[in-house]
Amino acid sequence: MHFSELNNSDILVTGASGFIGSALSAELVKSGARVHGISRNFKESNGNIQWHQGDLTDLSYVDQLIESVRPDYVFHLAGHVVGRRDVQQVMPSFNNNLLTTVHLLVSLDKYKCKRMILAGSLEEPVFGDNVFEPSSPYAVSKFAASNYCKMFHQLYQFPVTIAKVFMVYGPGVRDLKKLLPYVILTTANGNVPELTSGTRKLDWIYIDDIVSGLIHLAIVPGIEGQTIDIGTGKLTLTRDVVELTVKLVNPDIKPHFGAVEDRVMEQVRRANSQETLEKISWKAKIDLESGLKKLINSLV
Ligand SMILES: NC(=O)c1ccc[n+]([C@@H]2O[C@H](COP(=O)([O-])OP(=O)(O)OC[C@H]3O[C@@H](n4cnc5c(N)ncnc54)[C@H](OP(=O)(O)O)[C@@H]3O)[C@@H](O)[C@H]2O)c1
Repeated sequence: MHFSELNNSDILVTGASGFIGSALSAELVKSGARVHGISRNFKESNGNIQWHQGDLTDLSYVDQLIESVRPDYVFHLAGHVVGRRDVQQVMPSFNNNLLTTVHLLVSLDKYKCKRMILAGSLEEPVFGDNVFEPSSPYAVSKFAASNYCKMFHQLYQFPVTIAKVFMVYGPGVRDLKKLLPYVILTTANGNVPELTSGTRKLDWIYIDDIVSGLIHLAIVPGIEGQTIDIGTGKLTLTRDVVELTVKLVNPDIKPHFGAVEDRVMEQVRRANSQETLEKISWKAKIDLESGLKKLINSLV
């Protein structure tokens, strides 16, 4: 991939130390952009990424950061990416998903960047679904963040596009307790993975596809204020994804479905890939089995 439109631009990537942000940053560097990563932890800048240390929940820090970087584009990927329902998730989700977004919007509004791209989520409620209430502290914080972006676009003509990101997998995943790394590592060690019923269907998208989709959202003209699905449009039963993974890693193991309780209020959502193709001329390329093989090779 090479996106000449981004050559020589200053791009701020929040969450650049995370799973999606690190893959995105590497791709932006290849396109000739000056990439600024932000992390709460100290990281040495190198020829590729200029690192800034700070916490986006601190508005005065965000103001300083934006004033010093003056980014042409911002990809806001930083967040608390945890779907658990317990009340301990409320404050970290509120602070790291919602407050960080509002801080960036307020601060960037003074400088007029070309576009901000927010990583939204499939977990956000959708008008017309049978259950409209947000299903977790994560879901409500992402939904509120998307709505702030829409309000900034409507009221202040702020150039923001929301990527509705579906279930991402692939090499570089940070949290090894997430479903696929857990299944791969457990099975590779000869142990039985303990799982939920596996009856939820999800739209799984490979990391390289997410990266190219996000970059399209920065460069395609005329899509400000819109939410655009970045997924494959294909639903796969979690049980089938797990069984395929186990077959590829260690076919002698039989995963234990039903050992862990299902999360309440789980929704089934698929990307509207046809609409995305029409709007940004992009679609996902990597099929599930090829993507799983790459993930497995990266872990075992
Ligand atoms: N992964 C998925 O399947 C998926 C699906 C839908 C949507 N998304 C969205 O995509 C984005 C990226 O997800 P991911 O899986 O790449 O997440 P991740 O690996 O957990 O990375 C998130 C990053 O956010 C940074 N961060 C969190 N709070 C921060 C704060 N207050 N200030 C500065 N940095 C902060 C962390 O960096 P430091 O710890 O270095 O500070 C962390 O590396 C998130 O917005 C998520 O909601 C992901």
